[in-house]
Amino acid sequence: MPNVARMYDFYLGGKDNFAADREAAARVIEAAPTAPVMAKANRTFLGRAVTFLARHAGISQFLDIGAGLPTRDNVHEVAQRIRPSAEVVYVDNDPIVLAHARALLASNRRTHIVHEDLREPEKVVNAAQAFLDFDRPVAILLVAVLHFVQDREKPYEIVDSLMDAVCPGSYLVISHAERTPQLVEAGRAYDKATARAALRSAAEISEFFDGLDLVGRGVTRLPEWASGQEDGPDTSETVSIYDEAAMRWMPFLGGVGRKPLCDSPLSSEAFVQKPPLSELASFATQLARHREQRMHALFNSRNEARS
Ligand SMILES: C[S@@+](CC[C@H](N)C(=O)[O-])C[C@H]1O[C@@H](n2cnc3c(N)ncnc32)[C@H](O)[C@@H]1O
Repeated sequence: MPNVARMYDFYLGGKDNFAADREAAARVIEAAPTAPVMAKANRTFLGRAVTFLARHAGISQFLDIGAGLPTRDNVHEVAQRIRPSAEVVYVDNDPIVLAHARALLASNRRTHIVHEDLREPEKVVNAAQAFLDFDRPVAILLVAVLHFVQDREKPYEIVDSLMDAVCPGSYLVISHAERTPQLVEAGRAYDKATARAALRSAAEISEFFDGLDLVGRGVTRLPEWASGQEDGPDTSETVSIYDEAAMRWMPFLGGVGRKPLCDSPLSSEAFVQKPPLSELASFATQLARHREQRMHALFNSRNEARS
């Protein structure tokens, strides 16, 4: 049976995959030729988000759910380069992923591996609490995994329950493939894999961040998120293979949100502390957009009340 972690390893040019994985991945690539570019963009997004969190948001605890097979620039490597004391809990429901991760990470005392399923968030939180202090901010990473959770499995409730468990000032990182005709076709190759694809629209992906303050430009196409960040991981290899068109339409979105300390998005400490100028500018845009959305909502609800 094709394995989603090993198919992803194949897109990334890894060697931890078998014939069944490669055949299914080839069907994906036939329908969506830029699938390997998207996988690499996803790793770049992950690296940028972790860099932002460790360097600018003061985060030293990471809960990476649906962690995948170890590869280059794993979360603990990026985070601990910036904050050597960072604790990372990797969670996956695939025993193969866990075996690889344990072999690679055995000597890292601040990296922990947990066998749990995202669809049972209470169990994930219980297991993670053995290693992380939930009274201090935690970054929850759901990177390229929610699109394996079907609607009937209640993905929004899962995310809410994870964010309820962490304290204000904690962060949520999500990347998610978008529902386009091309990806729906490609997604069929996952029908007989270890997890089926559950693609969502841009609006549905943004909804995962309801109630959180979005960082920077909000939910964007992956290559756009914090592009131009100077102190991120080495992205030269990834960037060189993007052509402009693939960047512009890439049907893969990502964002970072912060559980607010109070009602206002201005509470975001990362911006109050020492805002990099580029982020301050985009934060101002975000704030304006936030106000505009509230005005629209108010306007619509008044109109509805009248009619
Ligand atoms: C495409 S890989 C993403 C790996 C990594 N997060 C990244 O973005 O580079 C998806 C991973 O999610 C895992 N996964 C899928 N469904 C899961 C679930 N319900 N609970 C935990 N892990 C899951 C798979 O085993 C796989 O390792």
